[in-house]
Amino acid sequence: MNTIGVKILGTGSYVPEKILTNADLEKMVQTSDEWITTRTGMKERHIADSSTATSDLAVKAAREALAEAKVSPEELDVIIVATVTPDMFFPSTACFVQKALGATNAAAFDFAAACSGFIYGLSIAKGYIESGLYKKVLLIGAETLTKVTDWQDRNTCVLFGDGAGAMVLGAANEPSSILSVYMGADGNYDTLLQLPGGGSRNPASLQTIEQKMHYMKMAGREVFKVAVTKMSEALSKAVELSGKQCSELALVIPHQANLRIIEAVAKRMEFPMEKVFVNIHKYGNVSAATIILALDEARKEGKAKKGDLIGTVAFGGGFTWGAAVIKL
Ligand code: ACO
Repeated sequence: MNTIGVKILGTGSYVPEKILTNADLEKMVQTSDEWITTRTGMKERHIADSSTATSDLAVKAAREALAEAKVSPEELDVIIVATVTPDMFFPSTACFVQKALGATNAAAFDFAAACSGFIYGLSIAKGYIESGLYKKVLLIGAETLTKVTDWQDRNTCVLFGDGAGAMVLGAANEPSSILSVYMGADGNYDTLLQLPGGGSRNPASLQTIEQKMHYMKMAGREVFKVAVTKMSEALSKAVELSGKQCSELALVIPHQANLRIIEAVAKRMEFPMEKVFVNIHKYGNVSAATIILALDEARKEGKAKKGDLIGTVAFGGGFTWGAAVIKL
């Protein structure tokens, strides 16, 4: 019988100092604070400067999480970074984090699940720990999406921000804090949300640059519809798998891509918005960093407390989606 449980030992987050407001965007593309606010709920987002890479944000979030967990970098068995904006193709961003932290005993790798990164990462961490393979896991979601943003495309440039969230998970002789994880994907939607250039399908060339293929492309309206359906389904499945009821959740922390998506999911689930954590106005969509960053903020603000049941749910490029129920 499996007696090893997963415990969340600490969380941390970091966003770059520079803020880009809706008023700033009004000067860059044909848009308005009114359009961005009513269509997305976003007011400002944090932007990494030209000398800052994803691992720089990740390291700062990781240090905070390790400090809270009272875990030294040498104790870590593995570092996992969820990102679609790595420092470079290789080495992995996780290897840069490992170097900066001095986590000399840790394996390190990245994976990509776009905005569903945290949920996918949680499943990996849970599997490692409950199987007995590893005892201490550092899970990070970190992104610098503004580096792959076309600042002339108003359909996308108002939506994204940079940041990182980190979580230290450890083995414990008690029931798991991660009660359930549910994930899904459908590659048939690949063209609705993608960054087509620079990979092996379209290697970087003068032509890919001229055609702006190194920037994110999104068919927002279509993505929106699938996001609402899949996020609602995923959260319902994760709650069912946890053996709990939706009404027992103290808080739901959804991916923050659009306030209207969040409200539509809450409505479908008949879940009160007062118990849904929203910080989209401050950060925009930070992809894989969003949920850990929000969970960390909710804990710091006292909105997520020890013993609380928390539902988390995400949707992103791929398409990928997923949800998890966590007991803090
Ligand atoms: N300012 C002003 N007008 C704009 C802007 C802007 N920034 N952007 C688009 N518009 C215009 C469009 O051109 C369009 O004009 P038209 O009717 O003349 O053609 C009009 O506003 C309406 O456009 P829609 O795309 O229908 O607007 P919508 O209400 O759907 O909002 C948005 C767009 C915010 C992108 C929304 O569709 C959305 O949030 N989609 C989902 C995003 C998401 O969940 N992404 C997944 C995660 S991301 C990841 O994985 C990396």
